[in-house]
Amino acid sequence: MVTDRRPAIRDPFPTDFAMILYLVGFMGCGKSSIGRRIAERTGYAFADTDRMVEEAAGRTIPEIFATDGEAAFRAMESEALRSIPTEGNTIVATGGGTPCNPDNLAWMKAHGHSVYIAITADYLYRILYTRRQKRPKLANLNDEELLSYIRTTLAEREPFYTQASATIECTGASDSYIIDHILFYLDHLSDRPSPASSSLY
Ligand code: S3P
Repeated sequence: MVTDRRPAIRDPFPTDFAMILYLVGFMGCGKSSIGRRIAERTGYAFADTDRMVEEAAGRTIPEIFATDGEAAFRAMESEALRSIPTEGNTIVATGGGTPCNPDNLAWMKAHGHSVYIAITADYLYRILYTRRQKRPKLANLNDEELLSYIRTTLAEREPFYTQASATIECTGASDSYIIDHILFYLDHLSDRPSPASSSLY
């Protein structure tokens, strides 16, 4: 159960240190919309690996999956991740499968901090129920298959997601709750710039 307890956030937000913050989590957890809003709020740059792949390929992700296959998409995704400048302040929305490649996970650990936006499988099902079409992994699944896919895949992926430097439990939480907690974590990191493993809530 999520409460409306809000962390205190320093304002203006500190920008006098350089870091990358990677947002990780399952499809539908809000990495892109939340990441964009955090970037606006902090003045950090924003990068979205899915959009970078689409721009580089000149095609949508469903088109890339359909014509080149998932392995080609994963290679492009890894390349996009590595092309993000590591010396600036940047919020990165990763794809749901990005940290499940151990090389990508190692890259993220070496170049920044990360937050896992954790949402239960049953709640993800409610979110993804009407959002299947733009996601090739989900587009052809019926309702029962969708729930089963989310439960199985989340269980497989959690060992990767939970290696993020912080995990925020976000089931049922509003975007503003999640944003405030990530800003709180960023504020905490500004005092402790070296990567540290912690679970916040
Ligand atoms: C994928 C998630 C998608 C996208 C691709 C594969 C996955 O990103 O990278 O469709 O395997 O979980 P989002 O998590 O932004 O939907």
